[in-house]
Amino acid sequence: MTESNRRPFGRTPEGEPVDLLTLNNGTISCQLITFGAALRSLWVPDREGKPVDVVLGYDSLEEYRTQDAYLGAVVGRFANRIGGGRFTLNGETYTLAVNNGPNHLHGGVRGFSYRVWTVAEQTADRAVLTLHSPDGEEGYPGDLTVKVTCQLEGAALRLRYQAESRGDTICNLTNHSYFNLAGQGSGPVLDQEVALMAGRYTPSDETSIPYRRLDSVEGTPMDLRRPTALGARIDEDFQQLTWARGYDHNYVIDGEPGVLRPAAQALCRSTGIRMAVSTTLPGVQLYTANYLSPRAGKEGARYAQRHGFCLETQFFPDSPNRPNFPSPVLRAGEQYDHTTVFSFSAE
Ligand code: BGC
Repeated sequence: MTESNRRPFGRTPEGEPVDLLTLNNGTISCQLITFGAALRSLWVPDREGKPVDVVLGYDSLEEYRTQDAYLGAVVGRFANRIGGGRFTLNGETYTLAVNNGPNHLHGGVRGFSYRVWTVAEQTADRAVLTLHSPDGEEGYPGDLTVKVTCQLEGAALRLRYQAESRGDTICNLTNHSYFNLAGQGSGPVLDQEVALMAGRYTPSDETSIPYRRLDSVEGTPMDLRRPTALGARIDEDFQQLTWARGYDHNYVIDGEPGVLRPAAQALCRSTGIRMAVSTTLPGVQLYTANYLSPRAGKEGARYAQRHGFCLETQFFPDSPNRPNFPSPVLRAGEQYDHTTVFSFSAE
């Protein structure tokens, strides 16, 4: 580990030092900060071979500490929403913070995205970050240890999430990067094309809690099986879209969870950058930054609503309360082991 690929990124008010790590394999490079294990930058070549930073981020630790948008962060212990902030496990009901309307969102008030992670290992193209979450933290049962491995492989970024608990718990880890394949800070992403390998999604109520069913996307603006510009149908008068102010929905990825399989594709015609997402997880949340209020981003960039899109691979929202959804329960001693790969090319 040389000094140039690890440097200080400030201190929390409690005095904990936060570092910025740089990984580079000669094809792509990225920066991670130990606060929230957040992906701060990701440079990938455009069709001319020029590196373009395709994720949104901030300049200062203060902005990461106080943000409401989870830019780049690893989200947990349970990413996405849990209805009413309650769930039952082994006959016991657990109460979590209600921090998003009537629901629990993204691990609570001080979820994993607001914690300082430990660097367990760093090489030129790989970093391993760990976190300990004690039993009862944010209301969750089970003493949990989490490990996220961030590996550059050719033109791909591979994120492996591993966790183990001493007591039964629920676990759902994702990365909350906002992508803009035209380059961060270049405005709305509505002309970027997205395809999702998903014939079904989980329709949700006004507070984004899924109903007890999976609906076909067929014949609706939720159908993104063929590459579609994000803006093509986003403003249609379709209740799911008007309630969420755009796409903010969990899609059921075709095929078998547990196996790494294609989940999504995205393409920006101006840079030629294409991104392919594959995952072992059962679902992916497409979020078109509907609630990203105007704000300053890194290096003088300005961000606003729809200036990025997230593809958050995950267990389905509210799955702790939905026996018909894939189970996010992690039993004591079992291994949580999921991988998501973001691969890039240019055309
Ligand atoms: C959620 C949005 C929420 C956002 C917070 C997304 O994962 O689905 O509803 O507003 O995170 O930045």
